[in-house]
Amino acid sequence: MRLVLLGPPGAGKGTQAKRIADEYRVPHISTGDILRENLRAETPLGLEAKGFMDRGELVPDEVLVGIIRDRLGKPDCAGGFMLDGYPRTIPQATALGEILGEKGTPLDVVLNIDVPDEELVSRLSGRRMCECGASYHVQFNPPAVEGVCDACGGRLYQRDDDKEDAIRNRLQVYSDQTQPLIDFYSKESLLASVDGTGGIDEIFAAIKKILDAYK
Ligand code: AP5
Ligand code: MG
Ligand code: ZN
Repeated sequence: MRLVLLGPPGAGKGTQAKRIADEYRVPHISTGDILRENLRAETPLGLEAKGFMDRGELVPDEVLVGIIRDRLGKPDCAGGFMLDGYPRTIPQATALGEILGEKGTPLDVVLNIDVPDEELVSRLSGRRMCECGASYHVQFNPPAVEGVCDACGGRLYQRDDDKEDAIRNRLQVYSDQTQPLIDFYSKESLLASVDGTGGIDEIFAAIKKILDAYK
């Protein structure tokens, strides 16, 4: 299965991606996680990305296209993959089409997780993250022990871009630059949408109904 997860910041892409990866055995490729790893390791890429990420702006397309071309070339992607947070602009989507076209392995489906703005702000402001990529919420999805990751025992932290100014900027950037992809993929007959409000398990059940067709 070759899948793209689409949706605004806080829609639950990362949360659902963990479950999808377990259920369908596809690698979870989150460009946000890749950039944050580089930031922590202070690589040249991380240092270049930091300012954009802290402000809630997009990192330049050519940087992201390079990351994705590289990642999709790894052996674990041969049997399928799930992209979370890429593409985010029309040029990124076009580049993805070219990369996959060269390999003769087009996308199967683009799954759009739909959540209204007012809910996104409260999800993001209460989020806590682990370096392993797991994400929690102080109220909606708390870990068993406060501040500790259920999956790996790591210490939870708050993302720098989960502060109010950056959140507002991210939502604006999403509506200007990423939302047009809904139309783009709908015209390519690849789009499936799921209601991203309600419980995490309930949403996963709806996602499963859609994805079982591509197993
Ligand atoms: P990225 O890390 O991709 O962030 P994002 O798109 O803003 O999305 P989030 O990770 O914030 O949300 P999510 O949908 O994964 O939600 P989650 O599951 O955590 O990107 C960060 C930055 O990197 C960008 O701003 C940009 O600078 C750069 N970047 C990355 N990719 C790029 C690209 N392709 N091009 C250019 N720049 C790029 O859930 C959110 C919260 O809600 C959690 O607390 C969770 O517990 C809770 N929650 C989840 N589901 C539910 C539910 N059903 N009910 C209640 N709460 C829920
Ligand atoms: Mg995420
Ligand atoms: Zn963890």
